[in-house]
Amino acid sequence: MAGVTRGGTIIGWGAALPDRVRTNADLEAHLATTDAWIRERTGIRERRVGSSTTDLAVDAGRAALARAGVDPASVGMVLVATCSPDQALPATAAHVQRALGTGGGALDVNGACAGFVYALVCAFGLVATGVERILVIGAETMTRLVDDTDRTTAILFGDGGGAVVVEAVDGPGALLGTDLGCDGSGAHLLACEVGGTMVMDGREVFRRAVRATVRSAGAALDRAGLRPDDVDVLVPHQANARILDAACERLGIASARAVSTLEHSGNTSAASIPLTLCHAAATGRLHPGDRVLFVGFGAGMSWASAVVRWDAPAAAAMHAGDPWATMSAGIPSSDEDRTGGDT
Ligand code: COA
Repeated sequence: MAGVTRGGTIIGWGAALPDRVRTNADLEAHLATTDAWIRERTGIRERRVGSSTTDLAVDAGRAALARAGVDPASVGMVLVATCSPDQALPATAAHVQRALGTGGGALDVNGACAGFVYALVCAFGLVATGVERILVIGAETMTRLVDDTDRTTAILFGDGGGAVVVEAVDGPGALLGTDLGCDGSGAHLLACEVGGTMVMDGREVFRRAVRATVRSAGAALDRAGLRPDDVDVLVPHQANARILDAACERLGIASARAVSTLEHSGNTSAASIPLTLCHAAATGRLHPGDRVLFVGFGAGMSWASAVVRWDAPAAAAMHAGDPWATMSAGIPSSDEDRTGGDT
């Protein structure tokens, strides 16, 4: 980006998902809902449930460091994006620091579902101040925040974690454009008291989510000097397939370029974007030089977008330990998805 004296790039990524699957049929058993309704109105078929936010953060962070081949002690900062920490104090990042033996600072970021992109942009900013390596994690146990008897929220959310390692490079680096924003007048639309459960005005959140995604992604692309058609891979927050489709259409980005994991993971809030990035990498959708657009939105209402050039070598195929390897079949997994969008 213009004016940045030292940049960063993503050198590692990792995902963590609990083993337990909660299907729509499981929800049908105790809620006045149906699998057909949930799939049609949200695109979600199942979600992962369980573990703790700390364990998911540690597992995803460990995988990202291993992928990067980085000594944890050489990390200069851990940023954990979460709105569902296990404890109010200390930060989840402190537990990650202890478990992984990272150096430097450790801090949580609460930007709700936009939190990971907020933290990612902060990581690039820290590189500019002299930090060499930053571990950026999104980890959530959202199913602990939902009221199991509320069919409007219980159907949406899941648990998981994802992480990337950002490393300093010579020159301006891989961050090409950003947009961060918040409209606190919408705070009541999606909220959770400490110790309580989530309340949500679904229709209004839906409306604002589409608008925020389109405006924020457009602003980040403008700052990067790119057009929607220049986006090779869109890694959006996974909230609702209809939000994604509407945003893609209004942005003018072919939906085939958007990576979707929603069907199998539900909305994992700050974990959804790094989890989806890991899926894109594991299924061969990321290539060196690709322009990747990350866009998140959520409670606040807050939103965050970042355009990042993918500098890592073409990712290796999914390996046995990759949590995505345990997912049900059916997620698009190759460049075929992209060819459809090139017309
Ligand atoms: N199963 C069956 N029926 C349901 C239902 C469920 N799980 N949830 C709501 N309904 C009913 C409603 O009661 C309503 O019935 P009525 O017409 O008799 O009043 C009807 O379905 C339509 O409700 P509506 O709220 O208009 O549905 P919707 O199409 O907007 O879908 C959401 C509801 C929650 C799926 C949708 O609004 C949404 O995804 N919003 C965004 C939420 C989100 O992404 N939050 C996180 C942001 S990070």
